[in-house]
Amino acid sequence: MLGIAIRQGYRDMGIGTEMMKAIIEESRRIGLKILVLHFASTNLRAIHVYEKVGFREVGRIPNGIYFNNRYMDDVIMFLNL
Ligand SMILES: CC(C)(COP(=O)(O)OP(=O)(O)OC[C@H]1O[C@@H](n2cnc3c(N)ncnc32)[C@H](O)[C@@H]1OP(=O)(O)O)[C@@H](O)C(=O)NCCC(=O)NCCS
Repeated sequence: MLGIAIRQGYRDMGIGTEMMKAIIEESRRIGLKILVLHFASTNLRAIHVYEKVGFREVGRIPNGIYFNNRYMDDVIMFLNL
């Protein structure tokens, strides 16, 4: 299971995509079989990046995340390595 965050001011520069590619490569190298991540459904940038590197959505927990006085779906994605 993994989670990443890029510091504000450094987003949309390709760093997250490159980090995900490196994590996938290293995970394969050490013999992991599956990667799973969770994030808020409002995070359209994250969905785009994770799909771009091969993750697929497996489901959502309705109102699974409470943040800033607001409920959002908890999106679950996976990648078989
Ligand atoms: C999500 C996150 C990890 C992505 O990393 P990043 O370095 O910003 O991502 P990149 O620069 O590699 O790629 C961003 C892509 O999203 C796209 N994008 C930006 N805003 C978007 C939006 N609102 N909707 C759809 N796509 C969007 C960009 O066009 C770019 O796509 P492209 O490379 O195909 O042109 C980073 O933005 C982040 O840390 N966000 C806040 C914390 C977070 O959400 N963490 C994830 C929870 S698990």
